[in-house]
Amino acid sequence: MPDVRSSITDAVHFYGSSTPRELVREYGSPLYVYNETILRTRCRELLGLSSHPGFRVNYSAKANTNPALLRIIREEGCVADAMSPGELYLNKMAGFTPDELLYVCNNVPAEELAAAVDAGLIVSVDSLAQLDLLGRTRPGCRAMVRLNPGIGAGHHQKVITAGKKTKFGISPASLPEVFDIVNAHKMRLSGLNQHIGSLFMEPEGYLNAMDVLLGIASRLRSEGRLNDLEILDFGGGFGIPYHKYENQPRLDLAALGQGIHQRISEWSAQNNYKGRFYVEPGRYISAECCVLLGTVTATKSNAETAYAGSDLGFNVLMRPVLYDAFHDIEIYRGTAPESETVAQTIVGNICESGDILAHNRELPRLKENDILGVLDAGAYGYVMASTYNSRPRPAEVLITKNGTPKLIRRRETLEDLAALFTD
Ligand code: LLP
Repeated sequence: MPDVRSSITDAVHFYGSSTPRELVREYGSPLYVYNETILRTRCRELLGLSSHPGFRVNYSAKANTNPALLRIIREEGCVADAMSPGELYLNKMAGFTPDELLYVCNNVPAEELAAAVDAGLIVSVDSLAQLDLLGRTRPGCRAMVRLNPGIGAGHHQKVITAGKKTKFGISPASLPEVFDIVNAHKMRLSGLNQHIGSLFMEPEGYLNAMDVLLGIASRLRSEGRLNDLEILDFGGGFGIPYHKYENQPRLDLAALGQGIHQRISEWSAQNNYKGRFYVEPGRYISAECCVLLGTVTATKSNAETAYAGSDLGFNVLMRPVLYDAFHDIEIYRGTAPESETVAQTIVGNICESGDILAHNRELPRLKENDILGVLDAGAYGYVMASTYNSRPRPAEVLITKNGTPKLIRRRETLEDLAALFTD
């Protein structure tokens, strides 16, 4: 049944056989709710970008590491990256084998590099110093280097990861030193990767950056310096439309796929290459299959501003506070849709005035006990949640293919909060 504001989730039967209120009653509020069918659809869309035999979708697990979701992503045929011992552990727990995993790290200690190599992974490093440390730690190992193609993209300065203003990547001008280090430690240069940034909505920048990496790889190959190549990884950043109620267009996957497929097919033929090509999306796969549910606990006005207070503080979802990120919001009250709106600022229950989920949003007037649904919360949502103000983190529930809910992470308890203290 349509609710006060629910057309986006209604259109995809997001909650299956439950209502949001029933889910909150059963599992508590706030609550991360995932939909299996949407997760599988997103994986399939990306796997369909190219039919080239070496093409892989390397899910960037930093977006969401719940093993129940990782298992589905693996079942669909994706491989995965890890950037920490924790991600490696959870990826393995979900069934990914070493040849299905890539370690793409940044500023890590020798023990971490050693552990990834010993687990059978290729490690991508992103500075000459880390390449040298990898070589000293595990001489003779396979190595991959992350290049900075000079083109950056992203929804916020904090997530643009190439170009001049970023800590990431090795400049192509330093490639002679890369080979000196590789040779000194008898390593094999098995891959090149890059990641220009997070959330692009037009294919062009990504395809241009691909051309840069492919151009470098062609040159090295023609000089006979890239004979051990196994993987060329173009990175992630595939955007999703967060402004769903304004009909924001989706990323044109047909155009992107055509550009990717053509480039890798031609490059393989020209360079007599039988290895793999990776794209490395996180957000595109896991964002849209999730709605974060919360509850309106109090409403009030202060001067000109109408506030709706809720249990959705930045301890639960950090993106709005950290990046001024926009998430559409639905309202479930069990009554019919309402078209009359009023500007409201939705805030959480954290002791900071910056704890704002949505600024001055034109929405039907919120009331105490309304259930809120924050759309597109599955990427960089739970993984960035904290226990700030000593609030336990929420549960996660999966609406399975047949529409029934399944708990995939229990709510933290007060005992969990206390579990690590030693005195
Ligand atoms: N590969 C590398 C090396 C990355 O650093 C990242 C993301 C990805 C792939 C996946 O990017 P995606 O396809 O998800 O855009 N917390 C921020 C996003 C940070 C992205 C960090 N790196 C947010 O909530 O927007």
